[in-house]
Amino acid sequence: MNTTSANQVEFTINRNANPLPEAERNAILQNPGFGKYFTDHMATIDWTREQGWHDARIVPYGPLQLDPAASVLHYAQEIFEGLKAYRHADGSVWTFRPEANALRFQLSARRLALPELPVDLFIESLKQLISVDKAWVPSAPETSAYIRPFMIANESFLGVRSAERAAYHVIVSPAGSYFAKGMQPISIWLASEFSRAGKGGTGEAKCGGNYAASLLPQQEAYANGCSQVLFLDAEEHTYLEELGGMNIFLVRKDGTLITPKPSGSILKGITRASLIQLAEDMGLKVEERKVALQEWRDGINSGEITEAFACGTAAVIAPISALKSKDFIIGDENAPAGKVTVALRNKLTGIQYGLEEDTHGWLTRLA
Ligand code: PLP
Ligand code: COI
Repeated sequence: MNTTSANQVEFTINRNANPLPEAERNAILQNPGFGKYFTDHMATIDWTREQGWHDARIVPYGPLQLDPAASVLHYAQEIFEGLKAYRHADGSVWTFRPEANALRFQLSARRLALPELPVDLFIESLKQLISVDKAWVPSAPETSAYIRPFMIANESFLGVRSAERAAYHVIVSPAGSYFAKGMQPISIWLASEFSRAGKGGTGEAKCGGNYAASLLPQQEAYANGCSQVLFLDAEEHTYLEELGGMNIFLVRKDGTLITPKPSGSILKGITRASLIQLAEDMGLKVEERKVALQEWRDGINSGEITEAFACGTAAVIAPISALKSKDFIIGDENAPAGKVTVALRNKLTGIQYGLEEDTHGWLTRLA
């Protein structure tokens, strides 16, 4: 493994000669939506088997040059991450648990046979990029800059083996709410024919292929008025796994949280891990275990399960009002967000925006 660290790699900075004019940038920051606009710069670090990580740079945002034979285009050797930059009241900009993203990026790299990027280099790339594009981090409540690090295999070779060349990039997109209706509860759609990931597959890695596999059932979800798709385990089609882009929690009437235990096919969400900690801090019990779909149905019918929510960096926490499928509906599409869901969301976002004390040391200053 290459052990390059941030101390050994200097970033060069090539400023964009034509950044978006301030008035246009401010118009975007007023209503950024999600994933539609990108800042003036991006970060890049190249890797080759001989040289390891090298040529770290901040450059103007723009198209990548890729040979049509680049392995990523044929065999999907690609991984990514997602985290956010939050502007605090004093103007400083912070991010949340970036080491956890860096470690998951390494896990994903191992699974996809890509080179591991050192944790400190990952974090340094965020600091360098956000320092240059700080003006793009919005300040209105509930807004942030979504940071998307990713790595692609870019060797020109059609043999099926891990590439000898790769590139790491980071792009940034100002972000409002992931869902068009903000914090309003969502309905989700049960994938009854399709699975997202199986035993020994890539479900635990954050790789583009997992999301490609989720798009067809996601289309079905949209067609049925749902915002996300819920996947069950691939073997028995009995137990909850996760949504296309979020983890899932159920809440019992006594406030106990129940969430599927990651067993190799679920992405181990950093929001998920943080909420488990915050719930425990609030004196709530958390059960991480297999959760049968039937348990949710029975729990709703008996009144034992009172809330459900989805969580992830992009979506933060989205209350789930109903689960729909071809044959049944669990819950009530008009149900409001539950108490525990709202309390956890307020606590988490309070820490992220610097309004609550960061007792776990989860924030890192970027700029
Ligand atoms: N599960 C999937 C499939 C995701 O894409 C995401 C989003 O990153 C999550 C879960 C939640 O992960 P995190 O909380 O680290 O953003
Ligand atoms: C994230 O939350 O960071 C994701 O990658 C999920 C996707 C819905 C954008």
